[in-house]
Amino acid sequence: MILQKSLQIKKNNVFKTLSRYYSISSSSSSSSSASNKLSNDLQHPILDKLKSKETIKIDDKQRNKKNSNENHLFKAKTQLMRDFIQDALYNPKSGYFTTKEVIIPENVQVKPLNSLANFKEYNNYLHDLYGQLEHAWLTPVELFKPYYSRAISRYIVEKYSQQQHPDTPLKIYEIGAGSGTNAVSILDFIKDNHPQIYENMEYTIIEISKLLAEKQVQRIKNKHPNVKININNTSVFNWTKTMEEQECFVVLTEVIDNLPHDKITHSFNGSFETVIHSTLENSLSKNQKHLIREELSKINDPVIIEYLEAEKIWSGKSDQDKSKLKQKLDNLLSMFKEDESVWVPTVCFKLFQILAKFFPRHHLVLADFDYIPSIVKGKNSPTVQHKQRVKDQTQVKYESIDLDDVTLEVGSCDIFFPYEWDQLYKMYCYTNKDRIGFDLANVKTFKHKDFIKQYGQQDLHLTETKSKYNPILEDYKNMSFLIS
Ligand SMILES: C[S@@+](CC[C@H](N)C(=O)[O-])C[C@H]1O[C@@H](n2cnc3c(N)ncnc32)[C@H](O)[C@@H]1O
Repeated sequence: MILQKSLQIKKNNVFKTLSRYYSISSSSSSSSSASNKLSNDLQHPILDKLKSKETIKIDDKQRNKKNSNENHLFKAKTQLMRDFIQDALYNPKSGYFTTKEVIIPENVQVKPLNSLANFKEYNNYLHDLYGQLEHAWLTPVELFKPYYSRAISRYIVEKYSQQQHPDTPLKIYEIGAGSGTNAVSILDFIKDNHPQIYENMEYTIIEISKLLAEKQVQRIKNKHPNVKININNTSVFNWTKTMEEQECFVVLTEVIDNLPHDKITHSFNGSFETVIHSTLENSLSKNQKHLIREELSKINDPVIIEYLEAEKIWSGKSDQDKSKLKQKLDNLLSMFKEDESVWVPTVCFKLFQILAKFFPRHHLVLADFDYIPSIVKGKNSPTVQHKQRVKDQTQVKYESIDLDDVTLEVGSCDIFFPYEWDQLYKMYCYTNKDRIGFDLANVKTFKHKDFIKQYGQQDLHLTETKSKYNPILEDYKNMSFLIS
């Protein structure tokens, strides 16, 4: 059984090219300056941080060095963990998503799955396909095209048909649309099966990567020239100027796993946020040395504080709910506990707040990982995956290597997180509960298989192998849907 996006875990193959050390301090001036900046932006504190370029500090010693040798630049950055990951994945010049060809090249064709014999052949086929691709991902959207997207389309059409104002055109927003395959398949399905809806519908994409946004424009507009298509090359965290008042659908498939997290450490001395100090010594003679230091600092960042307070409420762990005696007992017990690191989804929390505020009448269709094996330390830790060329006499081949730290091979790795699905459900309900007309009963979770059984039944024979093994049902066991 292959868990997608995490084909192999190789502990011994970790590249240790960066020097790191860990320290604990009770306060960090660097982190508090970041916090001050965030707290200025009261409405959506995280947005400013995600949009901004980090402050680059050049100390006097290094400044002199720079002056004495123009070929040398010494840069230093201090970032919260989430900003470090944001940079590693999306920095316009060096980020993994913004600089690599992360979509399947057009010359690589995905086979019809019902032409395969059985599980073994499917598994080998997948393995070969991964081997051909240096960076590209194989999401369910890509591997099961168009059937996975057709299941999503059926849910959308069913919900749209129940809406209060049936004359309002269907509006779909897709965040992080990758190669555009999902959009093309959804539009194809609605065109073929519901031409009257297709006639007036609107499809809007919000895509952070310029490279991908350009491919999406080409593909979608060519195939559907008469539909109103808007492709916005921006981060969803910049979507704070336009309010979508109309009922609409917001689709996110395999997007939140790539949203940065913060790393919190709970110890007897209290709770700490993780700050990364990095320096990049860059000489034009191509010798690059990257020095990275991870530091724990008393929690000070307003977004982390807001998240942790909210989490206590939605998970029923608020101090107010505990008796004084229980609080004392918990404090006492914490003396005997080992330090615990937890990766917390502060950025997804902010995303849900944006959806609640700027899409107040939206229906959500979100699919992602509810489990991913990881060798990185901490609860809910990410997988950090690097692709390496392997020697093969006949063809170019790649294999996936999992690294045990997010600070390794910065900009060359995919970094993706699992979500505890019951917590994700609670976080969505908590952040959206004040929306007008929000009905908790409409928020549902499905395991991947159950969603496909419910909305993709009609197409199941098209993905079934000859032995009756059906990958669209049996694979991706580690994925779930959250819909509303
Ligand atoms: C793993 S890909 C999934 C692509 C596609 N949804 C699929 O299922 O095949 C993640 C996508 O989200 C985009 N993305 C990540 N963060 C984003 C953000 N903050 N705003 C908009 N798009 C984002 C990436 O550029 C990429 O297109």
